Amino acid sequence: MRRVRTHTNPLNIIHRFKDVKLPQNQDLDIEIGFGKGDFLMNWAKNNPDHYVVGIEVRKQMVVLLEEDLKKNTLNNIAIYHGNGQVFLEDVPLDNSIDRLFIFHPDPWFKSKHHKRRVITPAFLTLAHQKLKCNGKLYISTDVKLLFDDITDLLKSMPAFEPIHDSFWETAYQTHWSKFSKKDNRDSFVQTYIKNKQ
Ligand SMILES: C[S@@+](CC[C@H](N)C(=O)[O-])C[C@H]1O[C@@H](n2cnc3c(N)ncnc32)[C@H](O)[C@@H]1O
Repeated sequence: MRRVRTHTNPLNIIHRFKDVKLPQNQDLDIEIGFGKGDFLMNWAKNNPDHYVVGIEVRKQMVVLLEEDLKKNTLNNIAIYHGNGQVFLEDVPLDNSIDRLFIFHPDPWFKSKHHKRRVITPAFLTLAHQKLKCNGKLYISTDVKLLFDDITDLLKSMPAFEPIHDSFWETAYQTHWSKFSKKDNRDSFVQTYIKNKQ
């Protein structure tokens, strides 16, 4: 059986995406850290009029999802190997993303490793810049400590407003969320809307 590394330090994956172009005439939905890609593929299937993009720092996961995608005829999905923050810096125009999904980001528990987390103050500033007004940021985790840290960061950014969203009951399922549920772990989810320019 092929061994899949469970962690990659995203700070070591810094290649740029200067040649990637995205369509301008469809809703643009981006998932950072898609892992096995279950959510990404289902979202693309269920929303054929959206353009759905996934970025994943672990190369092997990208290769595995590419294999799955070959068995489908989806023409509204693109996946890339790399660091989600670098991708956001290089590719989407400002005010262009409709939905930004980050499900079960790695918690990196040690304080000295917090800079490896996907959701940092710098990332949130960039996400705000790239989301459309009324664009949404979706966050889930089963790690209470991480959820509290993220909630604190977002409280200091009034341009992101927490909202109730039926998405979590109707459309949300990832590889990680399934296992988390099976293990009876708590689930912490929140949608934020970008409410100011
Ligand atoms: C715990 S897994 C969750 C996978 C998936 N979202 C799910 O819920 O099943 C976190 C994933 O995020 C990826 N990741 C971590 N930091 C990243 C970054 N800066 N950019 C892109 N992917 C990242 C990891 O490689 C890993 O696959």
